Amino acid sequence: MTQLQQRRLILVSNRLPFQLLEKNGKVSLKESDGGLVSALKSFSEREEASNLFNEKWWVGSADFPQARWDKFTAKSKVKHAFEISPIFIDTKVYNKYYNGFCNATLWPLFHYFPSFVEYDENTFKAYEEVNRTFADKLAEMLRPGDILWIHDYQLFLLPQMVRERFPDATIGFFLHIPFPTFEIFRLLHRPWKEKIIRGLLGADLIGFHTNEYVQHFLKTVRMVLGFDHEFRVVNADNRLIKADLFPLGIDVQRFSTASNLPEVIEQKEQISKNFEGKKIIFSVDRLDYTKGVTHRLAGFERFLELHPEWREKVVFVMVVVPSRQIISKYNERRKLIEEQVGRINGKYSTLQWQPVLYRYSHLSFAELCALYQASDTGLITPLRDGMNLVAKEYVASRADQSGVLILSELAGAASEMGEAILVNPVDKEEVAQAILTSLNMSPADQKANMVQLQKRLLDYDVTHWVNDFLRQLDDTKQQQIAQQTR
Ligand code: G6P
Repeated sequence: MTQLQQRRLILVSNRLPFQLLEKNGKVSLKESDGGLVSALKSFSEREEASNLFNEKWWVGSADFPQARWDKFTAKSKVKHAFEISPIFIDTKVYNKYYNGFCNATLWPLFHYFPSFVEYDENTFKAYEEVNRTFADKLAEMLRPGDILWIHDYQLFLLPQMVRERFPDATIGFFLHIPFPTFEIFRLLHRPWKEKIIRGLLGADLIGFHTNEYVQHFLKTVRMVLGFDHEFRVVNADNRLIKADLFPLGIDVQRFSTASNLPEVIEQKEQISKNFEGKKIIFSVDRLDYTKGVTHRLAGFERFLELHPEWREKVVFVMVVVPSRQIISKYNERRKLIEEQVGRINGKYSTLQWQPVLYRYSHLSFAELCALYQASDTGLITPLRDGMNLVAKEYVASRADQSGVLILSELAGAASEMGEAILVNPVDKEEVAQAILTSLNMSPADQKANMVQLQKRLLDYDVTHWVNDFLRQLDDTKQQQIAQQTR
């Protein structure tokens, strides 16, 4: 990728890769552990990235006040992987954008929950306004040669807004959630549909996790704006835009070597002691109706019902991480989950045993790794998921190549993880059967599957993902230039 050398990489996402906390007048930075964040952070910390770019920037909305940021930058001498440029957005506008159009309109629709979608012209206006605020910030920063990489559904309009001001800019866009079929996408209001597709086509390269999402997008472009495509290249009024698949990988090493960390060893020993003689099934998700937690519980309950011989011999450790709490659909979901856990435990618990160990909180990295390592089955069954990195983290954590992954066939990750037990997440009979199969699987079969899964993870880890995307972005740009000069 020699052409990229000594250029600036500017990443843009709604969230910045950290939180800024203030306690007793002292400001401290807490790095986030989200999928996108840890992916890009681990890439940028590699030496390779420093050789590729002479500066790396991260632009995102600030979920902290300007005064706290000023206080932090004045004092902090810590060198980070990225230079940070926070955008301060009016709270009312931000709430309408984030809790409204992003997470009450786009999120449910793109995850195939059309009945949850809210239609509100005001939240779309806020969405446009926030995207424009991002564009204004970038206009202050951009220099010729910069590479702009915009992330996710919160910023669909941004590529075109930047393109209008900088026709020659190099712009990549990556979507971290599914791109739905046209039959779902068409349920958006007509002006929103057109603006979203035009917004995306401002990019030079648009990346998705799976080939299905690419195909859905290409068809949608044709249906909404009439632009045709050939070999994943859209011809939009003589500008060539590439759409392609880049299945997001993880920092495999970070998880595979975690078994050596003293805190992980300690936590794992504690878990093994607590559940001595029992098999452990584990799941962890953000609290979200797309994650299929209530269906998963129904599958586990059915398993207990059908296989009384397993009662008192298995526990389901289910961690749910708080998320988007203001939105009513999220709060309702929490109540449903807690009622269901209570009911299952009420029905099956004995004095010595409780079938579901439920926790509603954040997990530290050490706790997460200890649970990945100590569990016999990873039960990851979203109803829809762009990729699902938990499935990949579970596999990467199994240094001894034991353990079984049960994975929803509706997660993007399923297309790369065929050795997992793939299930339809809404079919409780299938989930119950998969649990039984996983618990009875021989160590030799577990190992055979894990070896293949781990090999594939290593072949396309996060560094490959970033390199692949940036290389293709560069190629696409070169092809456009060649076409213009023809
Ligand atoms: C998904 C999205 C990300 C988002 C993350 C956490 O992975 O694709 O864009 O950042 O969820 O959601 P939140 O609303 O807390 O940022």
